[in-house]
Amino acid sequence: MGYVIATANMKGGVGKTTITVNLATCLAKNYGKRVLVLDLDSQISATLSLMSPIEFAKRRKQSKTFRYLIDEIINPARSQSTQTIQDIIQPQVCNLPGLNLLPGDIDLYDEFVVSEMLHQQATALGEQDFETVWNRFERVLINNILKPVRQEYDFILLDCAPGYNLLTRSALAASDFYILPAKPEPLSIVGIQLLERRIGQLKDSHEQEAKIDIKMLGIVFSMCSGNLLNGRYYKQVMHRVVEDFGVEKICRAQIPVDVNVAKAVDSFMPAVLNAPQSGGSKAFLQLTQELLEKL
Ligand SMILES: Nc1ncnc2c1ncn2[C@@H]1O[C@H](COP(=O)(O)OP(=O)(O)OP(=O)(O)O)[C@@H](O)[C@H]1O
Ligand SMILES: [Mg+2]
Repeated sequence: MGYVIATANMKGGVGKTTITVNLATCLAKNYGKRVLVLDLDSQISATLSLMSPIEFAKRRKQSKTFRYLIDEIINPARSQSTQTIQDIIQPQVCNLPGLNLLPGDIDLYDEFVVSEMLHQQATALGEQDFETVWNRFERVLINNILKPVRQEYDFILLDCAPGYNLLTRSALAASDFYILPAKPEPLSIVGIQLLERRIGQLKDSHEQEAKIDIKMLGIVFSMCSGNLLNGRYYKQVMHRVVEDFGVEKICRAQIPVDVNVAKAVDSFMPAVLNAPQSGGSKAFLQLTQELLEKL
């Protein structure tokens, strides 16, 4: 059975998506792994890093996005879609065998509809404790969606949105590991601490019904600048993280600021395919190797 790995940090813009898509691509391209990327963010950055906006619009018109799988669960009576996850997954994105994408959507779910459905369920079951019903839903949502294809992949990478929404909690509950990208800046580190606290709470709140067994795979520093003055400051910040989490949690591979990484989105493929010789791409490959060793 393969690994399900979530990429998360409460803080936005710290490199979660860029790391997810480049890691996924390295795993497929350099290690021949079967990889699925699931875009859980309505900003659809992972989707647009792996396919063109035109292709995305076409698929959305055909109801071939993650939104329709959620809809079948939260809104079965009204759902128009009868597509399976296999129908929705786009195989061989970026023309790379082994790299598959479950495209996200700009409109994923309506919180009100979720609350309404869970309230109805709780009432029908005579369940007094609404929190139990809600927690159970979170725990199984992404797990159940992925179940039909879980065996088909060596890696399923879940690109979480910033913050801590329903899909992030459900992704963490479905994952074996999580990767925590961070910029070497104080606020990004606050994001690490907040997420760590939330994951602890998530484990506690589910303990009675089922064990959530997610482990941190590593903290990855991204967008590190080589400038000497910055370099010294970044080192001080990183030192704090080492003190908090232990040196073994920090990935040795750090992702530098590299314009090739940012520019790759224009070609609808990650930097490791578009500019494999760039510094950023080399760092992603090192990171992939390091994470495989850790696993
Ligand atoms: N190593 C890098 N060098 C240069 N630019 C980068 C690098 N990594 C990421 N970027 C750019 O920084 C921005 C934020 O990166 P990314 O989208 O990966 O972060 P994120 O944590 O997923 O953001 P969000 O929280 O909004 O989902 C993007 O425009 C991306 O292209
Ligand atoms: Mg992102």
